[in-house]
Amino acid sequence: MSIIFSGIQPSGTITLGNYLGALKHFVDLQENNQCYFCIVDEHAITVPQDPKQLQQNIRSLAALYIAVGIDPLKSTLFIQSEVPAHAQLGWVMQCISYIGELERMTQFKDKSAGKDAVSAGLLTYPPLMVADILLYKTDIVPVGEDQKQHLELTRDLAERFNKKYNEIFTIPEVSIPKVGSRIMSLQDPTKKMSKSDPNTKAFISMLDDEKQIEKKIKSAVTDSEGIIKFDKDNKAGVSNLLTIYSICSNQSIENLEKQYEGKGYGEFKADVAGTVINTIKPIQERYYSLLESEKLDEYLDLGAEKANAVAAKMMKKVEKAIGLGRKTRK
Ligand code: TYM
Repeated sequence: MSIIFSGIQPSGTITLGNYLGALKHFVDLQENNQCYFCIVDEHAITVPQDPKQLQQNIRSLAALYIAVGIDPLKSTLFIQSEVPAHAQLGWVMQCISYIGELERMTQFKDKSAGKDAVSAGLLTYPPLMVADILLYKTDIVPVGEDQKQHLELTRDLAERFNKKYNEIFTIPEVSIPKVGSRIMSLQDPTKKMSKSDPNTKAFISMLDDEKQIEKKIKSAVTDSEGIIKFDKDNKAGVSNLLTIYSICSNQSIENLEKQYEGKGYGEFKADVAGTVINTIKPIQERYYSLLESEKLDEYLDLGAEKANAVAAKMMKKVEKAIGLGRKTRK
């Protein structure tokens, strides 16, 4: 049994990319492991958020976690800001990281490019993510490909701390799925699918209805070759749709290529839309029945309580190791 930690930002409704690259695997992992799944709301405020909308997004993400199959009685499902140790250890991690290494983070470069006013939080967000992971003695962090660099930083900072102060942190491993770790934008298949894309046709939201899904997949950018074949470099759009189809239908990409030999993009896209709808629809049904329920608050209260107990203990160890506060204080 391993300890698993992962988080998702409530910065908009999560996409099919988040589901196929991350959430789906969380569900498989919870069977035989001790899992912590977090709604990382403190990460979301690194870019401006409307307070009312943020509250809705937090609740919505919590309901989605459960709707996809996370069992809140088995796994610890909680909201980051309800566990103060995250921000506390985040600060400590900022103090042992170097500005240079944070500036080298690809996500920081992408998100800050061409902007005049970039929050300091956008730069120091990776040390907060490091804190999220290290608080729970995490062995494995399941994420999509875009988080790989942040996981490398996590290992570096954990080792740096252990060497400098005391061996208290577990060095976590990253787990990235072989297929689906980078679902691409439907409008520009050289870019990853992102919930913050201003063009809503570029992503499928987990709450899109059938019509929207059909429309978005129909208008997905492909090529003029008319051949359904996996070739990431030359046929990025078709390859992305094949990846989505393969995971949603549990069929191999090779099988799908054979099945669609000699067939056109129209038929292929209609079938991709069909499997996506079949995957998402039952999740949505569970989601809507949970969203306004008191049960959801009970689950989140329970999650915060369980997470706080573990995280506060680790934070005490950290404070002791670096000499914060008073020695005699309990
Ligand atoms: P976030 O909220 O951007 O994404 C949540 C998860 O979804 C994955 N993902 C994708 N996978 C495949 N294809 C895509 N197009 C795609 N887009 C996103 C992400 O890799 C991620 O696994 N910093 C993190 C949240 C975080 C976290 C953590 C994760 C905070 N603390 C600790 C793990 C451990 C983020 O912004 O993910």
